[in-house]
Amino acid sequence: LTETTSWAEQVRALARREDAIILAHNYQAPEIQDVADHVGDSLALSRIAATARQSTIVFAGVHFMAETAKLLSPDKRVLIPDARAGCSLADCIDADQLRAWKAQHPGAAVVSYVNTTAAVKAETDICCTSSNAVEVVTSIPPEREVLFCPDQFLGAHVRRMTGRDNIQVWMGECHVHAEISPASLIDRVHEHHDAELFVHPECGCTTAALWLAGRGELPAERTKILSTGGMLSAASRTSSKQVLVATEIGMLHQLRKANPATEFLPVNPHAACPFMKMTTRENLLDCLEQGRDEVTIDPAIATRARQAVERMIEIGQ
Ligand code: 13P
Ligand code: SF4
Repeated sequence: LTETTSWAEQVRALARREDAIILAHNYQAPEIQDVADHVGDSLALSRIAATARQSTIVFAGVHFMAETAKLLSPDKRVLIPDARAGCSLADCIDADQLRAWKAQHPGAAVVSYVNTTAAVKAETDICCTSSNAVEVVTSIPPEREVLFCPDQFLGAHVRRMTGRDNIQVWMGECHVHAEISPASLIDRVHEHHDAELFVHPECGCTTAALWLAGRGELPAERTKILSTGGMLSAASRTSSKQVLVATEIGMLHQLRKANPATEFLPVNPHAACPFMKMTTRENLLDCLEQGRDEVTIDPAIATRARQAVERMIEIGQ
């Protein structure tokens, strides 16, 4: 047995012993993705968490994702290999700030990205992810003002796609995606003229990508704004020789597996999320063996936060 095989076998044996399902986000390290039961984007993993038959969910991702799984499966034990795996975007707004913002906009509907704490979700009408943000906002009557938080780039994308001018956007950002800048995008596009372009809407370069497409520097039909799950579906359908990928670099592993005939190149090869990479071989084993770190949520917060997530899950079903 190679070292990798024996580690993977230990993980799988412990998962059976503990009646655990292992969910891994697309940004996890390749070996963590490969040992998981399911790999996906935050919406797909939330849906799986809500219906899993196992009594334990191990969430190889960041804390807000494990918290969302706990909200949807309150009777299950939810574990995360390192509870310190946070998210710079989720840190951009707290419940007090959201309450103050709401007080300035009475009657507005609050749409929060799932990249938020449970306390922020408890102050939210409906959550969204990058794959359903446009659909979620469209479900709100057009005359009602919308407060969208915390991501400014996703918020700008939603404004563009819905054509609504009554969406107020919180000026938060993910430090990893913010650094996938218009300058890096333009350099890469000039190096690879014929490439297709997959852009996560959290990127600082989203508007530039659409602007380039609008000027004909990138054919509009080859420029796609996609969630990580959307990138994966598009990857298996593409016949392009090269695709430039503007998101966290962990995504490349699934894209390359989905379509080995296409070359997937990062727009910014340094765009690695340090929080996602806090899951290691060692702490995944410890997590299963010792039942930690367990995710818990204050019941008063959980009840209200769950409603916001469940409203999102119902959309598109
Ligand atoms: P997805 O919703 O596309 O999985 O993205 C989650 C995330 O954290 C993006 O940085
Ligand atoms: Fe948060 Fe950004 Fe990491 Fe996603 S990539 S988990 S938004 S810090």
